[in-house]
Amino acid sequence: MNQTNTQGLDGVIAGETAIASVGKGHGLKYRGYDIYDLAKGASYEEVAYLLHFGKLPYKVNYQFYISTLKDKRLICEGLRHILEQIPATAHPMDVLKTGISFLGCVEPEKSDFSNQNECIERILAALPAILMYWYHYANHGHQISLDSNQKTIAAYFLEKLHRCEPNLEHVEALNSSLILYAEHEFNASTFASRVTASTLSDIYSAITTGIGVLGGPLHGGANEAAMDLITSYNTPEEAKEGIVKKLEANDKIMGFGHRVYKKCDPRNVVIKEIAKALSVGHKEEKLYYISEAIEKTMWDEKKLFPNLDFYSASAYHYMGIPTSFFTPIFVISRVAGWAAHVKEQRANNRLIRPNASYTGPEEKSFTPLSERGE
Ligand SMILES: CC(C)(COP(=O)(O)OP(=O)(O)OC[C@H]1O[C@@H](n2cnc3c(N)ncnc32)[C@H](O)[C@@H]1OP(=O)(O)O)[C@@H](O)C(=O)NCCC(=O)NCCS
Repeated sequence: MNQTNTQGLDGVIAGETAIASVGKGHGLKYRGYDIYDLAKGASYEEVAYLLHFGKLPYKVNYQFYISTLKDKRLICEGLRHILEQIPATAHPMDVLKTGISFLGCVEPEKSDFSNQNECIERILAALPAILMYWYHYANHGHQISLDSNQKTIAAYFLEKLHRCEPNLEHVEALNSSLILYAEHEFNASTFASRVTASTLSDIYSAITTGIGVLGGPLHGGANEAAMDLITSYNTPEEAKEGIVKKLEANDKIMGFGHRVYKKCDPRNVVIKEIAKALSVGHKEEKLYYISEAIEKTMWDEKKLFPNLDFYSASAYHYMGIPTSFFTPIFVISRVAGWAAHVKEQRANNRLIRPNASYTGPEEKSFTPLSERGE
């Protein structure tokens, strides 16, 4: 295949955004606010509001936003029926894609997009409910109630997953993680969502585009692959030896490296701290030390650093979250970024349609099938 400087659009400026700045001395900022300050001091809902409306909410806006999201969690019988048809063997990413797609059929966005904010709030609120309803039905045959008094998405998610009052340390940890994952400029899934929006398609199509693109192991799927890697070792020594062998075999180590960041991922410091705190006293505390051994080996051998996905894996595991939910949690968070980008694209739209450099054969003359022989 012909390699060009633009393969993978590496280094190409593909548009403008005022939503987030990534790398190049900026670290990571959402609308000018440093990711560290947001992850430490805000709720995910405040951040979602910031991304969508361009400014942090005042208390009154925040209360209204929280109660709107709370009111929009419940899903209709038709959607519950659809979810009941999906087998337990399905990947939860496919469940989310199907759920959002169905919502778009029964609660469509208007063709002038005048209800786009309502649709975005609906999608944000319904995603955890879709996942949890399907999970409990497919695995245990339970039609769980989706009602809850929990105010935040993090608390709601953990309550519905474990079906009991959530552990507060876990709620805080998940909240920070949702903030870290919420937005990342022109990453593959966000860019794909913008391409969909640029055709003037509807918000549900843009979000299902994002879900589909996020699922791959080079993007959101890396956190699940990182968990499989970490749990494949029993000790830090074994992990070091195993990683060296994988690198010798030119294997990719999931949860390491980044297209834009070259020295470190600014989100890693927060998620690593969280994973460490959750590991203390946990029966699988060793997973944290195995993760550190992998991190050190990757740095010593390749000068590669962990991205957000690497320590998210053990952090989620310590919260009792099944591995197949790691990428769906990424969806539940990144949907805020996707939706903000859809709005930004629509506000100054031009169809995204680049050109390609043709590398195929020269002109050929056509022979009808009947004259082509056996
Ligand atoms: C994120 C990622 C796709 C960025 O890819 P990219 O900018 O296209 O970089 P490349 O895949 O071309 O990698 C550049 C070099 O670093 C190496 N490299 C990058 N990430 C690596 C990893 N995770 N493990 C081992 N080697 C890696 C590549 O093998 C390549 O080496 P080479 O030049 O000797 O061939 C890549 O780092 C990766 O696949 N990481 C693992 C998946 C992951 O964690 N994704 C989540 C991203 S947030």
